[in-house]
Amino acid sequence: MKHNLLEICYLIGSVTFIIGLKMMGNAKTARKGNLIGAAGMTLAILGTILLHDGDVQPMVYALIVGAIGVGTIIGWMTAKKVQMTKMPELVSMFNGMGGACAALIGLMEYHNYIGQTGPSIAIVLGMIIGTISFSGSIIAFLKLNGTMNKPIRLPSYNIINTIVMLGVFGFGTYIIYSGADMSMLYLLFVCAIIYGILFTIPIGGADMPVVISLLNSFTGLAAASGGFLYDNKIMLTGGILVGSAGTLLTLIMCKAMNRPLSNVIFGAFGGGGAAATGDGMKGSIKDISITDLAVLMNYSKKVVIVPGYGLAVAQAQHVIHELELLLEERGVEVKYAIHPVAGRMPGHMNVLLAEANVSYDKLIEMEEINPEFPTTDVVLVVGANDVVNPAAHNDPSSPIYGMPILDVENARHIIVNKRSMNAGYAGIENELFYNPKTSMLFGDAKSALTKLVTELKTM
Ligand code: TAP
Repeated sequence: MKHNLLEICYLIGSVTFIIGLKMMGNAKTARKGNLIGAAGMTLAILGTILLHDGDVQPMVYALIVGAIGVGTIIGWMTAKKVQMTKMPELVSMFNGMGGACAALIGLMEYHNYIGQTGPSIAIVLGMIIGTISFSGSIIAFLKLNGTMNKPIRLPSYNIINTIVMLGVFGFGTYIIYSGADMSMLYLLFVCAIIYGILFTIPIGGADMPVVISLLNSFTGLAAASGGFLYDNKIMLTGGILVGSAGTLLTLIMCKAMNRPLSNVIFGAFGGGGAAATGDGMKGSIKDISITDLAVLMNYSKKVVIVPGYGLAVAQAQHVIHELELLLEERGVEVKYAIHPVAGRMPGHMNVLLAEANVSYDKLIEMEEINPEFPTTDVVLVVGANDVVNPAAHNDPSSPIYGMPILDVENARHIIVNKRSMNAGYAGIENELFYNPKTSMLFGDAKSALTKLVTELKTM
């Protein structure tokens, strides 16, 4: 009876994961989807604790409740406090913890299954993948928070990494089939940590989000191995969902940057090329005053706003929404052009603008908005850089060559708001700023847009 009830809890939990994930595909339903998935997870955890077969010592219950309590408090407080711009770091840290859990399962369980091939495969595989995800995510965290801000490329790192990877999996296979003891498993754990570090340190620049979602899918696979080991359906379903969602996201982002995954993992990003050094940047830049921009926008028919990472840094999402409403009152059509990798995490701009109550219908994806630029009077680029860099089309030596971009060059007037001439995340210069149609509005996005709104109100 207890067992059947537990299976029903797992079934309900699995269904909520699938429904929740589906709902997260749309900004309007994402929050509810998240809550539904969390409710399913809570049910599965409570079911496991209360409906578990066999006797459990009260001390074990106390430890479980204590661990859940500590984890919940830390997770809750961190998630509450985190700024939008720090979300990718948080995601990679949480992901690393998931990987560590999967690795710990392997380390705790192996001695119970020595010599049993099936369970040993699940244990060793889950431990290797979970450990790589753990150490890789910690490096990704350090890179994203600026502690390790330069990619580290050892000489012949591709060859070294491939040898270490083959070595780790070869050693794992040996452990499974020879029934080796715990000391060997600890050695494998250390080797997997080293591989996770080696795998992540050379990757940099705009490729970091791809790596984070790839590590995310690794954690899912590691958790799914735990599901096989314990014959636990919800662990299996949850792991497979995370694994497949992470893999799909990885492939979508690679497509958005027009880079094969192998190129992200084995290729170098950033640096090099004429655009990286500024050689070949011709022409001069001109700036525009707030008053002139207000007049220009006031008399436009159509304005397209291109939000980027700088909008998130400045927390200017509310004031940009105010600008949008003000222009619409004056009969100007306003849309937002959303590049799939604008910002620092997938869907960053959608989440940021949704927070300011910008209508979801106004957020137009890159493929749809690009044909509209030739009929746009003013394109206002706010804190975006790489996603509007024409080097992606024009400079075969540029590291972003081939990446699809927002074709803002085709608009009649281009206004770029940023604080300086500094490069964006990929560390390369942008010839758009030297385009005769471009005017720079220098300054922090929030303060510049606030002044613009104030000026427009006087007209
Ligand atoms: P970036 O190319 O990083 O450019 C952002 C620009 O914002 C900078 O050039 C910066 O110039 C400006 N800025 C910073 N703070 C500002 C402020 N307070 N006010 C006004 N401007 C400010 O951003 P993007 O165009 O959104 O491109 C995203 C890049 O990050 C791509 O290379 C992408 O591949 C990569 N990336 C994406 C993700 C995902 S999944 N979305 C994750 C990680 C990395 P100043 O310093 O001169 O102000």
